[in-house]
Formats: sequence, structure tokens, C-alpha cells
Amino acid sequence: MDILQTIKETDKSFSQEIQKVQDIKSLEELRVKYLSRKGIVSTLFDDLKNVSREDKPLVGKSLNELRNSVQLRFDELKEKLESVSGKDHTLVDLSLPGRKTELGSKHILTQTLDEIKTIFKGLGFSIFEGPELESDYYNFEALNFPPDHPARDMQDTFFVNKSYLLRTHTSPVQVRLMTSQEPPVRAIMPGKVYRNEAISARSYCLFHQVEGLYVDTDVTFAELKGTLVSFARQFYGSDLKYRFRPSFFPFTEPSAEMDITCFLCHGKGCRMCKGSGWLEILGCGMVDPNVFKEVGYDPEKYTGYAFGMGIERIAILKYDIPDIRMYFENDLRFLKQF
Ligand code: PHE
Repeated sequence: MDILQTIKETDKSFSQEIQKVQDIKSLEELRVKYLSRKGIVSTLFDDLKNVSREDKPLVGKSLNELRNSVQLRFDELKEKLESVSGKDHTLVDLSLPGRKTELGSKHILTQTLDEIKTIFKGLGFSIFEGPELESDYYNFEALNFPPDHPARDMQDTFFVNKSYLLRTHTSPVQVRLMTSQEPPVRAIMPGKVYRNEAISARSYCLFHQVEGLYVDTDVTFAELKGTLVSFARQFYGSDLKYRFRPSFFPFTEPSAEMDITCFLCHGKGCRMCKGSGWLEILGCGMVDPNVFKEVGYDPEKYTGYAFGMGIERIAILKYDIPDIRMYFENDLRFLKQF
């Protein structure tokens, strides 16, 4: 039978042709040639009507096998070519610019605190922390602010109820440190503090402080000055000039504030230092004997100094940041500058 011969030859020629196919386009041409409605295989099916009745089952079977096998090989190659070409197009376009990965970085306040910690660690201080929700006792009373004492008005307080509040400074951590350890103690105490103040470029309801405390036998005011001058020179630069001004805090006696020369005008007077040539950077003093009594330290035996500084303010002065609110707005244009 001629037609069986033709089927065999068709199978052979399809095998040869599909081996040469390298891309989807020529595969499609091959599909049209063999499998479309007017293709070779369909034409052979049309010829079936000329085959004698007794030969029909055999020829029909061979034709079905031919069509199935052609279709199968076509499908396999199609899948292979598509997966390869898909990768080619999506993965490699050497002309595209590279993708930039955005790296996060530490907030300027964290960077400043890290620097402060490193300096004080070098001066022999360890780190101690306390809670932000504080009792009136730790925040005021144990620090020698008697009830109704006008000094409480120095710090506008967010009260939670009659006896609890959001701490207005990190000084209560001094009390917690002294009640938990015997002298000598030497630590800095960083953390958030809260004040119920009108929000402006200069003040915010939340900010950060670093407290410092050193208690031992024979600690002197001269040591306090030496420590703070060493800190300020490492932080702001070795040519820095400074002065200590008398001040008042209920928990230190005597008390002082430390000023440094304005780095913008070098002491001549400008908008930054409000014309004075000086910038206040911290409060400090010798621990008041009343505080020692409260925590159970013998004021006849021990002396100590304490200091406290605002991290926002310390960084504002170093980097000339015009508005304290910028720290908390998370505007990337600001944050990326550091
Ligand atoms: N706690 C004071 C304040 O918030 C700062 C201070 C700390 C002063 C320690 C003296 C000693 O202003």
C-alpha cells in the first residue's frame, strides 16, 4: 500500500526536519507544514477515504500514531525552546543600568549617643538604664525636690496619675543605680525623657538625655571638670574653650552649667549663641548630701559628682541643625545627610 509507505516517509522527514529547528519561529513553520488544517498530516487523513474498506483500520491506526507522535515531538521541543528563550530575554539585558540597593543607616541621635558612650567608656564609665514610666518618688522626691517645692516647676511634667509620671530627666536613674549598688559607682545613663512643653524649633515633648554619676571617697569638683572637659574636647574638638557657670539643681550642691565657645562665630556673638559667644551644653554638680541620705550612702564618707546633657542639643550644636523637630519627622532628605 502506497499510503503506508507515505506515512513512514512523512514520519522520517519530520524527524529530520525537527532536528534542524533552533528557534520558535522555525518550529512554528514546521507546525504549519505538518499539523495545520492544510498540512501534510491532515492531507493524509483526507486520503483515507480512497483506501479500501479492509485496509482502513490498519491505515487509520498508522495515521493516528503518526499524528500523535508528530504532535508529541512538536510539544516537547516547543516547551524546551520557550523556557530557554524566556530566560534569555528576562535575565540578561546588559544595556540596563544596575539596580541600586538602598542601605539603611543609624539615626543621627543613635550615632551621637554611640559616640558619647565610646568617649565615657574610655573614661571608665559603665552603662546603666532605668524606666521611662517613673514614680514621683524617683523623679522628684528622692532627688531632694520636696512636695510643692517650686523647683518642680523647672520641668513641666506629664503625669499618668498622682504618683506616676513620664520621667522628665534621667536623674531618677542615679537614684536607682545608688540603691542597687554600693560605692564606688561610675556610670552613664542614657534614655528618653518627656516634658509637657509648647512644641517649637527649640523644644519638643520628647528628647534624650545622658546622665553621668561618679561616687567614691574623695571625688572632687576638679575631677568633674576634668572629666567633662575631656569629653567636650573629644566630642567637639581639642581647641575648644569652655567655662563653668554657677547654677541650681535640687540634687547637686554646688551646681553648675558648662558652656563652650560658639563654634559658628568663635565667641564673637551670632544667631546660634544669641550674641553671647557661649553655648550651654550641660548641667552638673556635686551630689547633694540629702540624696546620699535617701539612698543609704554615708554623706560623711562619700562624695560624688553628677551631670546631665540633652543628646538632641549636643548634636544640634555639633551639626548646626536648625529645628529639633527634624529628628522626629523621619524625612530621608534630613536623615541621609549623616
Ligand atoms: N537633670 C538635670 C536636667 O534635666 C540635669 C542635671 C543632671 C544636672 C545631673 C545636674 C546633675 O536639667
